[in-house]
Amino acid sequence: MTPELMAAGAKAKELHDLRGKGLPEGASGASYGRVVNPEVADVAHGAILYLDDITVSFDGFKALNKLSLNISAGELRCIIGPNGAGKTTMMDVITGKTRPDSGSAFFGSNIDLLRLRENAIARIGIGRKFQKPTVFEYLSVFENLELALAADRSARASVLFRLTGEQLDRIGEVLTLIHLKDHAQRTAGLLSHGQKQWLEIGMLLMQDPKLLLLDEPVAGMTDEETERTAELFLSLEGSHSLVVVEHDMKFIGELQTGGANGDRKKVTVLHEGSVLAEGTLAQVQSNEKVIEVYLGR
Ligand SMILES: Nc1ncnc2c1ncn2[C@@H]1O[C@H](COP(=O)(O)OP(=O)(O)OP(=O)(O)O)[C@@H](O)[C@H]1O
Ligand SMILES: [Mg+2]
Repeated sequence: MTPELMAAGAKAKELHDLRGKGLPEGASGASYGRVVNPEVADVAHGAILYLDDITVSFDGFKALNKLSLNISAGELRCIIGPNGAGKTTMMDVITGKTRPDSGSAFFGSNIDLLRLRENAIARIGIGRKFQKPTVFEYLSVFENLELALAADRSARASVLFRLTGEQLDRIGEVLTLIHLKDHAQRTAGLLSHGQKQWLEIGMLLMQDPKLLLLDEPVAGMTDEETERTAELFLSLEGSHSLVVVEHDMKFIGELQTGGANGDRKKVTVLHEGSVLAEGTLAQVQSNEKVIEVYLGR
C-alpha cells in the first residue's frame, strides 16, 4: 500500500462514518493535490527494471553489496535466499523507501528511480505488496477496490463518487481474478488471512501497475490458497512484470514450471546482498553454493 493510499483510506473512513448522518458541506468536493507524472517507462530495450551495482549499508553493514539485477518486461522472476540476504532491502530501494549509497536503478531505460520519491514511484506503475496484508478492515471488499482506483485521485479520496461503467467492469474483473467475487460486500476485516492477501493484490491491480513487487505473498496461506495464488500470478505474467520473493519452494516450483514460459524462467538467489546464482530452478537447485547457503542437502 502506498502512503498516498493510506491517506485516502483515512479520509474514506471519515466519510464512511458520516454515511447515514447526512453529508457534511463540501464532502463530495473533497480533493487532494494531484500531481500527474507523464513519465512512462520505456521498455523498447526489453527490460523493465535495471539495478546496477547497488550498495546499501546500515552502520557499516552491507545489506546490499554491489547488487545487479535486470528484469524483462512481462517476466515473472522469483527471488530466493536466506534470511537477511537483502531481498526486502532490494524492494525498499526500488520503491524509494531506502536510498542506496551507490549504484543505479532504472524503471525502463529512461526513468531514474533514485531521483523519485515513494509516491511518485507508485504513480509511474510500480506496485508493492508487503508481507503483512494492509487492507482497510472496516470497508467492504468492493469499497477497498473502489478506493484503490487509479483513475481520479481526488474522486478516489471520496467513497461517495460515482463509478463509471468501465470502472465497475474493472472492479468485477479484479474480483474474479482474486477469487473474491462472492465476497464483494463482505467487510474486509472478516476475510481469512489469505483472502486479505488477495484483496491487497487486487488493490494493487486496480492501480494498473506495470511492475509488481511481492514480498512473501503466500506466508501464512493454506496450501489451497497458495496454489490459487500461483495461478493468479501466472495469469498476470506477460501483461505485467512480477518480482516474487518467497521461501516456500513448492510455490516457487509452481511459478517456475507453470505458465507460458514453462521451465525456461529464471530464479535469482541472493546471498549477503549480492546475486549468488541465477538460472532455471533446476540449475539453481543443483548449484553447490546455493545448496550450501540456502537449500541444504
Ligand atoms: N533499517 C535497517 N537498519 C539496520 N539494518 C537493517 C535495516 N533493514 C535491514 N537491515 C539488515 O539488512 C539485512 C538484510 O535484510 P533484509 O530484510 O533485506 O533481508 P531479507 O532477505 O528480506 O530476509 P528475510 O528472508 O528474513 O525477509 C539484515 O541483516 C537486516 O538485519
Ligand atoms: Mg524480507
